[in-house]
Amino acid sequence: MSVPALSVRGLRHRFPDGTVLDLSRFSLEVAAGERVAFLGGNGAGKSTVVHAVVGLAEPEEGEVRVFGKDPGREWPSLRARVGVVMQHVDDQLLGLTALDDVELGLRAHEPKREARRERARAVLRRLGAEGFADRVPHALSGGEKRRVAVAGAVAHGPDLLVLDEVFGALDLGARDEVLGVLLEEHRTRGAALLVVTHDVAWCPEFADRVVVLQEGGDSWTGPPLDLVSKEGIGALERAGLEPPPLFLLAREVAAETGRLPASARTADLLGFCHEHRRTGG
Ligand SMILES: Nc1ncnc2c1ncn2[C@@H]1O[C@H](COP(=O)(O)OP(=O)(O)OP(=O)(O)O)[C@@H](O)[C@H]1O
Ligand SMILES: [Mg+2]
Repeated sequence: MSVPALSVRGLRHRFPDGTVLDLSRFSLEVAAGERVAFLGGNGAGKSTVVHAVVGLAEPEEGEVRVFGKDPGREWPSLRARVGVVMQHVDDQLLGLTALDDVELGLRAHEPKREARRERARAVLRRLGAEGFADRVPHALSGGEKRRVAVAGAVAHGPDLLVLDEVFGALDLGARDEVLGVLLEEHRTRGAALLVVTHDVAWCPEFADRVVVLQEGGDSWTGPPLDLVSKEGIGALERAGLEPPPLFLLAREVAAETGRLPASARTADLLGFCHEHRRTGG
């Protein structure tokens, strides 16, 4: 079996002010090439897990591995294989312009400056961000900053992309563009994805599996379609997340008809519920 893209087990983290986050009951694994949506209420610990995965939080207890290595100690050798967008995106945009920022991340991968700039420009273009390539990152809107950060995360062709709350700040068009690029990275190069989000209805559009983290470290995991079930909806509610109304309706229809929708994607759920109404089943 191949080495997982990442695994987190029994994490316990002490922050500088003494606050302890105890996720000792929680474990998370993302297989190579797997796409995982990571859900949970505010303060459950998702971003702390992300920080541990990219070597920014060194846990007091527990084990974190990225491609079999400890990111706290071996981050320099992992950097090339991982692309990250942090929840506080301002902390990671370091270039004088958006283009400089993406180019900075390519220094270790492309020695020629002109080739680097061209590559950085091309990835900004893929994300519909070429219009603000020459602007100062801090002067960009929240959604624009995230597109630049995603460009920086994918530019070097990583095997694992970790994105913390990217989609919430994006309008529909930007969402589609960013999602299109992430799925292309997955399809063409087999990149694994760990996407932290609060948007439950959106998860089935990209994820093979959903992980729901509850406060206190209990968790639930299953394929997106299992969110349209008593267990999945219960897991969302226990995590303080509102089950999407369409999921609740689809669950009712499934219970009445004994059938299941093709997937939990919005289009499939709408079709499934509509069909039931049409046939009066
Ligand atoms: N620097 C810090 N110092 C002290 N406590 C912290 C610090 N950062 C996070 N915490 C606490 O750790 C817990 C987990 O925070 P974390 O940011 O990981 O949650 P989250 O699941 O990402 O939440 P959100 O959905 O709001 O982003 C929270 O109770 C939070 O208050
Ligand atoms: Mg967070």
